[in-house]
Amino acid sequence: MKPEDILKFSLADFSYNDSSHVLKPPEDFNLWADDPRIGLAMSFFEQPLNGAPTARTRLYHRPTGQRRQMINLTSYNYLGLSTHPEVVEAAKEALETYGVGASGAAMLSGTFDQHEAFARELAQFKGRDGCMLFPSGYTGNLGAIQALMQRGDVLVIDEKCHRSVVDGVQLSGARLATFRHNDAQSLDEMLSRHQDARRMVVVEGVYSMDGDLADLPAILEVCEAHDVALYVDEAHSTLLFGENGKGVAEHFGLDGKVGVDFGTLSKSFGGIGGFICADEGIIRYMKCYASPFQFSCALPPPIVAAMRKSLEVATRDSSLRDALWKNVEHFRSNLQALNLDLGQSDSQVIPIIIGSSVEKLIQFAMEAQQRGLYLQPVDFPAVEADARRFRISVSAQLTEDDIDEACNIIEDVIAKPMGLV
Ligand SMILES: Cc1ncc(COP(=O)(O)O)c(C=O)c1O
Repeated sequence: MKPEDILKFSLADFSYNDSSHVLKPPEDFNLWADDPRIGLAMSFFEQPLNGAPTARTRLYHRPTGQRRQMINLTSYNYLGLSTHPEVVEAAKEALETYGVGASGAAMLSGTFDQHEAFARELAQFKGRDGCMLFPSGYTGNLGAIQALMQRGDVLVIDEKCHRSVVDGVQLSGARLATFRHNDAQSLDEMLSRHQDARRMVVVEGVYSMDGDLADLPAILEVCEAHDVALYVDEAHSTLLFGENGKGVAEHFGLDGKVGVDFGTLSKSFGGIGGFICADEGIIRYMKCYASPFQFSCALPPPIVAAMRKSLEVATRDSSLRDALWKNVEHFRSNLQALNLDLGQSDSQVIPIIIGSSVEKLIQFAMEAQQRGLYLQPVDFPAVEADARRFRISVSAQLTEDDIDEACNIIEDVIAKPMGLV
């Protein structure tokens, strides 16, 4: 690899390699990763926060080696529940009663009264009769898909679905087929192509890198025409969308029609864990065959107690959701005034699409962070190579002043250098 070619390579290039020993990273990878420009880009990853993921947070800024206070636009703590006083108090109380960990897998010794109660409450919230919990959202998708699909089946997914869905198919032995993003006609073609196999369709409620919503009415119509079940990953939409916060399915008035409703506790809920709501019969079956449910420790009881409180706080009225959507509206209109490319975002996830230049992406990230704006670069292969971006996660906790200050910085370090204003 010649030095002038370094920036032509990315993380997509080294996972299959010709290293002679599995414990020796490939030489090309080392050459690439040792380059100072790549070192700088990598230094944006894993920057340690010194406090809670609130609207203004303190962190050790790795690219400059300094501690900084920043406006936080990167956290999934959309409703601020991770530090909500009632949620924290619920965790503290449960800590006294149950100790730190579950100390067992759910089927054997890891299920506590907290887990049972929470699964019932989640099922009731979603209007389903069954629910199961997983150690994380990632293992929830992995385990549910592994349990539902088998060799000979075809899982038909939107091309922008999360990695956990793709990994679940690999674990199940089923085949993977993708359809063009949010394109019902492409879905129809893909289902027709595989009509002799058992099939299931997976979409996300809100797409995590683009912030657009699944076109559920059109997608569901196609699924029904093919008599195929629909699985909706509501990771970024639960507690936020729909009259009662059930998610994007409720937003479209279709929540009774979804076969499997997936959610995570790591985003709006402010904690960690995954859950699946569906008919009781299929939940009973999945519990017997989802490896991450059977072979991994259950969620810590204090987390479950905290998540029960998050559900209660977020659903007892719409105040947190209302605060979030007010912020989203304010943020979006400020960004639109800067003529930035925000893609098709229609949610609290707002990308600022920069284009194909890695150099610009890293330069803008550095300048934003030095000005006190915690905005993270998202590079290929996480997104398309010509659509490198920043991804803003709006939180209900941001004040109008936070948003205005953030937008002033974005104007100076992104919009002006791009010649947009
Ligand atoms: C769409 C989607 N599904 C699933 C997950 C996995 O959830 P978790 O981070 O809670 O494991 C994520 C995480 O970012 C996600 O964006």
